[in-house]
Amino acid sequence: MGDVTRLIVFVSILAATTLNSEAQYLLPITKHEPTKQFYTTINIGSAAKSPVNLLLDLGTNLTWLDCRKIKSLSSLRLVTCQSSTCKSIPGNGCDGKSCLYRQPNPLGKIPVVTGRVVQDSASISTTDGGKFLSKVSVRPFTFSCAEEKHFQGLSFPVAGVMALSPGKFPFWRQVTTAFNVIPKFSLCLPSSGTGHFYIAGVHYLIPPFNGPSGHPIPMTLTPLKNIDSGNYIISVTSIYVDGIPLSLKPNLLDGGAKLSTVVPYTVVHTDIYNALAYSFTLKAKAMGLYEAGRSGPFKDCFDLGGTDRAGAGLQVPVIEFGLPGRAGEVKWKFHGKNTVVYVMETVVCLAFVDGGKRPNDLMLIGTHQLQDYMVEFDFSTTLLAFSDSLLLHNTSCSSWPSHK
Ligand SMILES: *[C@@H]1O[C@H](CO)[C@@H](O)[C@H](O)[C@H]1NC(C)=O
Ligand SMILES: *[C@@H]1O[C@H](CO)[C@@H](O)[C@H](O)[C@H]1NC(C)=O
Repeated sequence: MGDVTRLIVFVSILAATTLNSEAQYLLPITKHEPTKQFYTTINIGSAAKSPVNLLLDLGTNLTWLDCRKIKSLSSLRLVTCQSSTCKSIPGNGCDGKSCLYRQPNPLGKIPVVTGRVVQDSASISTTDGGKFLSKVSVRPFTFSCAEEKHFQGLSFPVAGVMALSPGKFPFWRQVTTAFNVIPKFSLCLPSSGTGHFYIAGVHYLIPPFNGPSGHPIPMTLTPLKNIDSGNYIISVTSIYVDGIPLSLKPNLLDGGAKLSTVVPYTVVHTDIYNALAYSFTLKAKAMGLYEAGRSGPFKDCFDLGGTDRAGAGLQVPVIEFGLPGRAGEVKWKFHGKNTVVYVMETVVCLAFVDGGKRPNDLMLIGTHQLQDYMVEFDFSTTLLAFSDSLLLHNTSCSSWPSHK
């Protein structure tokens, strides 16, 4: 290779690897309260407004939906088996001419979803971190049109599943590749109202953060393990209740914890559940709560007695997960609104579920624990960043800058 050629190659590699560090994108997140499903909304296709609501799923590899929800199909095209797109989708199939993809269904009665792989454009918004600015088009956007029977289990208005896995074709990666921006996305799941889903987020303008005071949301880092498995898994080294570690057989935590935006309440091994509930109950009683039996999937409930009165807010023991950090252990702290759930006006239950005794099961961190935290998945560093509970800062994932 001549020097000039070498230089050109070098310069073009540099250009290809220099990311646009300012562009960032924002999508809304809505909680469907009756089913506790969290969905986002994007416009698909050539019609100016063709919103489709998609369940957020960290475990899905390729977005799939009910393509009858797309208003204009004029720009939709089938991906053929021979195309490089089809060939690059791991686990693709072929039906005569058109590319098929089969994958697990996160919800519903039918465990596997089969769909035809298609391409169209999707439109999302740019942001300054706080507002929806201009619409931009992601083209081509690759997804699959699933067969009708798969929509059982998704509740109206949800019409499909948005892929957020660490794989090759999740929605976030199609956006970061299309716009040459840092490969990361962040979720701020709302407990009510509208939350924030950032792609390549730079500033998170959730008041009071990054307002006139200029303070960013404080974030803590922990490594993402083994993302090749297609899951988001973090190591958990210990679990604390009001600062006291549970005594657990160490192998109980070996598998780590997988994050889920579909499972509503964190699921743990029976032995972890029992240790957690025992310790939580002791502390709760010492704080003046009364045991109140079980309710629905929850085994340990408490009557708040007088403790929730007098504007004191919900006072229950703090649960913390100890995680590996850069310089020793860091803690993910869960306070009242994330540790318990109201089942009656004065009765709350420990919002964790006993997942049985299969020792190989991972801990599964559910949405009741994740809501009102900013959680960032950064593939440039393979780190997970999580904020304090925004509720501690008198704000929430559904707080937006006021329009002057
Ligand atoms: C997603 O893709 C990865 C990598 O190809 C694979 O290991 C994983 O099993 C897939 N997950 C699902 C849910 O299909
Ligand atoms: C949040 O509000 C409470 C009560 O209004 C106040 O005591 C507390 O200092 C506030 N916390 C922050 C971080 O602003």
